[in-house]
Amino acid sequence: MSDINILAIESSCDETSAAVIQNGKVLSNHIATQKVHERFGGVVPEMASRAHIQNIIPVVEAAIADSGVNKHDMTAVAFTQAPGLIGSLMVGACFAKSFAQASNIPLIAVHHMQAHVLAHFIEQKPEFPFLCLTVSGGHTQIVLCRDYLDMEVLGETMDDAAGEAFDKVAKMLGLPYPGGPLIDKYAALGDPLRFKFPTNEMKDYTFSFSGIKTSVLYFLQKERKNNPDFAEQNLNDICASVQYTIIKVLMTKLKKAATELNIKHVGIAGGVSANSGLRNALKQEGEKSGWQVYIPKFEYCTDNAAMIGITGYHKYLKEEFADMDITPSARASWS
Ligand code: KG4
Ligand code: ZN
Repeated sequence: MSDINILAIESSCDETSAAVIQNGKVLSNHIATQKVHERFGGVVPEMASRAHIQNIIPVVEAAIADSGVNKHDMTAVAFTQAPGLIGSLMVGACFAKSFAQASNIPLIAVHHMQAHVLAHFIEQKPEFPFLCLTVSGGHTQIVLCRDYLDMEVLGETMDDAAGEAFDKVAKMLGLPYPGGPLIDKYAALGDPLRFKFPTNEMKDYTFSFSGIKTSVLYFLQKERKNNPDFAEQNLNDICASVQYTIIKVLMTKLKKAATELNIKHVGIAGGVSANSGLRNALKQEGEKSGWQVYIPKFEYCTDNAAMIGITGYHKYLKEEFADMDITPSARASWS
C-alpha cells in the first residue's frame, strides 16, 4: 500500500505552522511564532493576518523539505477551518485549497479544538474512553473522547479562558504578551499560598475565570495605593498564588468529571498544558486517583500543525473530505 502523506496547515491565531504526517507519524513540524504582538499586550488580528501571509510559503517549504517527501507525493491537505481569527484562518484556508486544487488531492477541514485533543495521539496512544482538559488562550473545555473523531464537550468556560486569565493577569503585572509562560516561570520561585483569590463556584463542568481576573485587578489597585512598587516587589508570590488558584479550579472540575464518568485515562492539552504547575498537579492527581495521565510534548501543547495533521490523517481514513467552497469560521460549533 502506498504511504498516506498529509500536508497540514495551522493559522488560527498567531502561529503559522506546517507539518507533514506520513501514515499517522510526524515527519516534520515547523512553527513561525509572530513576535509582532508582544508590545501590544495581545494579538492584533490584522497584523496576525499579514504575518501569516508572509510566513506561510517559507514555513510550508521548510516543512516539506524537512520531511523528505516530495511535494508531488502529498495524499491530502488538512487545514484549520475553525475556530480562530477569521483573517488568520483565511490565509491557511486559501493556501490549503490552492495546494489541493493544484495537486488534485483531497482537502480536509479540521476543528482546532479537536486537534488539540488528538495531539495526544502523536506520540502516545491513550485508551478510550479518554478524558481531556483542553486549556488554551481562547478555550477551556473538558472533552470526553470515545474514539478519534467521536468527542463530546462536557463543559467549558462561560467567560474567559484559562490562558486568557493568565495573559490578562500578566498584563496587569506589566509583563509582555503572552504572559502565561512568564507567570509559570516566576511562580516557580514564589509562595502559592501567600495571597488568596476567590473563585466562582460553577455548576456541572462549567468554568469561570473572570472573577479571578477581577479580584487580582482590585487587589493590585489597593496594594499599589500604599506601595506603587508592590507588584514588582512581590512578583513571584503573586504569580504563584494566581497560578495556584487557576490550577485548583481546573483540577477540581477535571477530577469531578473523571470520578463521575469513572474514566482512568486522563490528559491535558492546549497552550496552558505547557504550564509546569498544571503538569505537576495532573501527575500528582493521577498517582492519587489511579489515573493513567497523558501530557503532550511541549511543541504539541501550543498551536502547531502536527496536531492538525494527525486529525487530518484520521479524517482521511474515514474519507471525511471538504468541498472546495468550504469557508473558515471564527466560531464554528463543535462537530
Ligand atoms: O493553544 P494555544 O497555543 O493557542 C490558542 O489556541 O489559544 O494557547 C496559548 C495560550 C496563551 O494564553 C499562553 O499564555 C498560554 O497558552 N500558555 C501558558 C504557558 N504556555 C502557554 N500558560 C501558562 N503557563 C505556560 N507555561
Ligand atoms: Zn490552540
